[in-house]
Amino acid sequence: MIRIRDLQQADIDEILAIADAQLGEKYITVDDLSACNVFVAEHVEMQKCAGFCLSYVGQEGEAYVRTVAVSPDFSGRGIGTDLVAKSVEYLKSVGAKKIMSPLWKHDGIVNSDVIFRRNGFLPLREIPDYWYADSIAKGYSCPVCGKGCHCTCVLYELKIEN
Ligand SMILES: CC(C)(COP(=O)(O)OP(=O)(O)OC[C@H]1O[C@@H](n2cnc3c(N)ncnc32)[C@H](O)[C@@H]1OP(=O)(O)O)[C@@H](O)C(=O)NCCC(=O)NCCS
Repeated sequence: MIRIRDLQQADIDEILAIADAQLGEKYITVDDLSACNVFVAEHVEMQKCAGFCLSYVGQEGEAYVRTVAVSPDFSGRGIGTDLVAKSVEYLKSVGAKKIMSPLWKHDGIVNSDVIFRRNGFLPLREIPDYWYADSIAKGYSCPVCGKGCHCTCVLYELKIEN
């Protein structure tokens, strides 16, 4: 059984390992986990983390689902979709009127397009080299480009109805 719950201290190494493998080495750090709201999908019987989702509200009140990743061992079971749904529920509960998410596009495909559309998000615009300056400054690697990420982001938006 998969349970979605808040991050616990004991999850951190497992979450960082999933992030390194799925999103690029050092893209997500302990500081990112502290700065964001983190939901973890736990396989209860295996006592193992299957995936996670980070969200936050910025200084101007803008709400973001920053990223979501699921271990390949658990893919295709609806966990990514459920993690985004839980983050949307959280952002709504703290008053978000719209939610943005910068999604990773490579080889012309946004892997996470389906899971965000299932949660009501739609693509708004594309931003080339979205992670380039940040990847140089912070020294993280992209799974596709390595050092210095030239991937395009597609910014998705969910408008919250009152
Ligand atoms: C994208 C990701 C979070 C999906 O997690 P998941 O738990 O497998 O997602 P769900 O089971 O809820 O939904 C799966 C759907 O995603 C789509 N999908 C997953 N991987 C895909 C890929 N590589 N290319 C295209 N679509 C993909 C499929 O359409 C699938 O639908 P289906 O099950 O009906 O066939 C996971 O594959 C992942 O961590 N990928 C690498 C990191 C990433 O791209 N994260 C998004 C960064 S913005």
